[in-house]
Amino acid sequence: MSIIETIDLSGYGKEFIADPYPVYARLREQGPLHHVNTPAGGEMWLIVGYDEARAVLADPRLSKDWRTLVPEPGDLYVISANMLESDAPQHTRLRKLVAREFTARRMEQLRPRVQQITDRLLEAMLPRGTADLIEALAFPLPITVICELLGVPDLDRAMFSALSRKVIGESAGYEEEAAAAAEIGAYLTCLIGDKRRHGPQGDLLSDLIRARDEEGDQLSGEELVGMAFLLLVAGHETTVNLIANGVLALLRHPDQLAALRADPGLMDGAIEEMLRYEGPVENATYRFTREPTEIAGRLIPAGQVVTVVLAAGNRDPGRYPAPDTFDIRREPRAHLAFGHGVHYCLGAPLARLEGRIAIGSLLERCPELRLDAPATELRWRAGQLIRGVQRLPVRF
Ligand code: HEM
Repeated sequence: MSIIETIDLSGYGKEFIADPYPVYARLREQGPLHHVNTPAGGEMWLIVGYDEARAVLADPRLSKDWRTLVPEPGDLYVISANMLESDAPQHTRLRKLVAREFTARRMEQLRPRVQQITDRLLEAMLPRGTADLIEALAFPLPITVICELLGVPDLDRAMFSALSRKVIGESAGYEEEAAAAAEIGAYLTCLIGDKRRHGPQGDLLSDLIRARDEEGDQLSGEELVGMAFLLLVAGHETTVNLIANGVLALLRHPDQLAALRADPGLMDGAIEEMLRYEGPVENATYRFTREPTEIAGRLIPAGQVVTVVLAAGNRDPGRYPAPDTFDIRREPRAHLAFGHGVHYCLGAPLARLEGRIAIGSLLERCPELRLDAPATELRWRAGQLIRGVQRLPVRF
């Protein structure tokens, strides 16, 4: 057996957070798979090549269900009965129960409402002349949409957002993460209890409480909490960064911005390039080896964490020529921003709809849109899961 050479990323700080691509490019030049010490202090295997990333994302030998590997999962258990942390057949069952609610056709029906929320947010923003685009548009749009869909009208968004960030690895450590998970679990259990008492209210969560599949199977209380958690967190943490990273990429590349303004028909392709070039999810969620498993020509022992770096696969020159160039006409087919395989993002049609409407309307209403701070001074969010700036100051 070959000796494992560990690459130490633990000392990688602010610079890596602000611009991880040169580090990933160097790793990729040495090979598609590396054993690393992460900045957060863990040890894992990183996949940085495009082909290997696709293969691993669709590899049924790798598990997403970490509960089977940890003797005492503790408080994080409360919210983990969700499809993204499950394997078949449990995954298949959970996904099937909601898949029909998130098809591109169903999402198209939301178009007028998404446009209306966007218009209201822009009308409130425009008279001010300057804004943090995240606070004014990129955050409130997707969270309003997912809360309306689920039927959580009075969610305390600031509170939920703070807890959600801790659960996805932007916390001070395990204790804080577990406490946040327990708090979200308690909140959602209470909400679901209320919905049970009040009968159907025409929202997704009320429907899910009553939904049965063909076998007459229903979601358990724990699974309802897990489902609500996953959908709310996805609504909070991802599309916000499609909108903000996308607008930032356009503002940093005035020729691309001008091309899109001149031909709004380029919008769909531009959104795909934004997802490839600066996608909201830097690393896919953890996968685990159940037994010694050969990946990219190496035997990885059982019980190890394997992480696919979506941001690295999306900039693999073997797949996308001149990968560090932002080119809205590129048509980056099969990019990895929404993952791949059975866990491919359920919300992709919704995210695309929101991204197109938000960015399209913003460009239309703000012909003078520009950054209101040097791009080098923007602060990027900590953690390796989500890629996005903390604030995006703009002038218009
Ligand atoms: C631009 C915005 C978004 C991006 C970039 C994104 C990205 C991703 C990625 C990469 C995965 C797979 C993770 C893995 O395999 O480890 C995923 C899964 C998922 N996403 Fe999204 N997402 C976005 C928006 C949304 C929205 C708005 C929703 C809410 C409806 C959503 C719901 C989900 C769900 C439920 C899964 C788990 C699917 C499964 O396990 O079968 N996502 N997303």
